[in-house]
Amino acid sequence: MFITFEGIEGSGKTTQIRHALKFLQQNGKDCVVTREPGGTVTGQKIRAILLDPEGKGMDPSTELLLYVADRAEHVNKVVKPSLAAGKTVLCDRYYDATVAYQGYARGLDMDLLSKLHKLILNDLKPDITFLLDLPPEAGLSRAWKQIEAGEREGIETRFEKEALAFHEKVREGYLELARLEPGRFFVIDALKNEDDVRQDIIKVLS
Ligand code: TMP
Repeated sequence: MFITFEGIEGSGKTTQIRHALKFLQQNGKDCVVTREPGGTVTGQKIRAILLDPEGKGMDPSTELLLYVADRAEHVNKVVKPSLAAGKTVLCDRYYDATVAYQGYARGLDMDLLSKLHKLILNDLKPDITFLLDLPPEAGLSRAWKQIEAGEREGIETRFEKEALAFHEKVREGYLELARLEPGRFFVIDALKNEDDVRQDIIKVLS
């Protein structure tokens, strides 16, 4: 089973993946936790380029191709082999993030995104996607608190520095994706406290 977690900055994905992992392991599932960008050795290098605030103003197509390169490496080296071995894969972001950020927010051609997805990923789709939804003001305020408290690796602030309007477009993009695929997406109210969000996710996993 392939399970992905999506949401804007500060939506609490990382914390909730930890809770989901614990629940699934307690229920005897063999799990792999991974993420995009940065789920492989090469991907970690790509992630550093993508999130470096010095890359402000990176051309949107450069950005897109770097995410796609990270994903090609990750899907072929981690996701597919883990699924083939019967494991449950919990992934922090996947292709929906590209549609929300590079498609809806940056305005790149959706048809191009979809072609790249078909060409490189053979249309591999998650079985379940949790969308942790909350207003960008709340998410960004949490994200900056974590950055200021030194809880994030290195300097990864290029997206947090984008304008609020950008994050609103990302949120709307995600919600639109959830409306288009109600069977796969579970929209979780991420404004709730950590334990309530955990319980909402566990209800679905159960
Ligand atoms: P993270 O902080 O949740 O690990 O995500 C890193 C950033 O990369 C986040 O701001 C969202 C962005 N992103 C994209 O713009 N497109 C993508 O395809 C992915 C996977 C992430």
